[in-house]
Amino acid sequence: MKKFVTFEGIDGSGKSTVSKKVYDRLISDGYDVILTFEPTDTWLGKVVNRCIDEHYDPLIITFTFIADRIEHVKKIRHWLKDGKIVLCDRYADSTFAYQGAQLKRKVKNPIKWLKSLHKEFIVEPDLTLLFVLDSGEALYRIQNRAKLISFEKKEFLSVVQDNYLKLAKNKRFITRDANKKIDELIEECINYILS
Ligand code: TYD
Repeated sequence: MKKFVTFEGIDGSGKSTVSKKVYDRLISDGYDVILTFEPTDTWLGKVVNRCIDEHYDPLIITFTFIADRIEHVKKIRHWLKDGKIVLCDRYADSTFAYQGAQLKRKVKNPIKWLKSLHKEFIVEPDLTLLFVLDSGEALYRIQNRAKLISFEKKEFLSVVQDNYLKLAKNKRFITRDANKKIDELIEECINYILS
């Protein structure tokens, strides 16, 4: 069984819907599970959202995500120590993929640099479920959302997705086609988590 599981993918890929349903199923099957997410709903997570909304410098955005994650990791360690299964909707791979794209022209080899910033505090997931969907289709799915944030543009999301696919060479990743029926995706995720 996998204890620390992260859900990743571009905006509109369906990872939040799938992670919620996977959580509900595991709870109703009697497992001790936590569903958490990033950016978090703490004041640090609110700072992150404010920096995105107000178009702050990508380096500032990067460091706010990392500050939020440092606090979040403390909670994750605690939950894992208590024997819980922890499901996390977005985690460090979101920073590697999104800020990796944002910092392309600002930093040499941004993903490598971002990974090095995480080395001292990160808990590595046992499993990362990556949902892959064409960026145009993903944007179509979220077009009716009340507010689209600055990351939600086709060209940007395709660079993010390319970064995810590079990251997915690591063997902790399982990549799923997000066009599949939701029930099928949920079933597959549960099987990977419990195996
Ligand atoms: P998201 O969880 O997708 O928010 P919502 O539920 O409102 O759709 O996260 C908000 C945005 O932040 C999303 O576009 C992805 C981005 N993001 C990063 O750029 N880096 C990160 O490290 C994280 C966690 C999210």
